[in-house]
Amino acid sequence: MGSERSPDFASLTLAVRAELERGRERNVALQLVCNLMTREVPYYNWFGYYFAVPAERLLVLGPFEGEPTDHIRIPYGTGICGRSAVSESTFLVPDVAAQENYLACSVHVRSEIVVPVFANGAFVGQIDIDSHRVNAFSDADRTFLKGIAPDLAPFFPRI
Ligand code: SME
Repeated sequence: MGSERSPDFASLTLAVRAELERGRERNVALQLVCNLMTREVPYYNWFGYYFAVPAERLLVLGPFEGEPTDHIRIPYGTGICGRSAVSESTFLVPDVAAQENYLACSVHVRSEIVVPVFANGAFVGQIDIDSHRVNAFSDADRTFLKGIAPDLAPFFPRI
């Protein structure tokens, strides 16, 4: 992030919650949060969700903001998202070029964070963010995203 000011994650958390409380249809609400994030955080260049299909051990792309991706369906175990789905844990990847099991969304992406989303203890999907900067994500992003994941969870479908 260089000398740039850190995002105000406390205010952003409140803005996300306000957005989700407007009673919009699920995917619309999720999409509006994508738009908010990419607008407010300069290094969130792609922000989206993958929904879990546990019976098929598959992730399916949900709403997103950023460049279109070829990775509409990702099997558990494949790429950063698929590995995060298996371990149900956060993956923070400072430099995607150093990853062997990685699915490139665009040539511009340099770092990525994937945060699992749980509803009533069950894994229902994940938040996925790509940055065009190397090493863009810190523990502050991880804490922020883990904080809003439970707010987003009710908007994820149970497939
Ligand atoms: N990079 C991810 C795939 C998702 S796209 O970046 C949107 C991965 O390796 O799983």
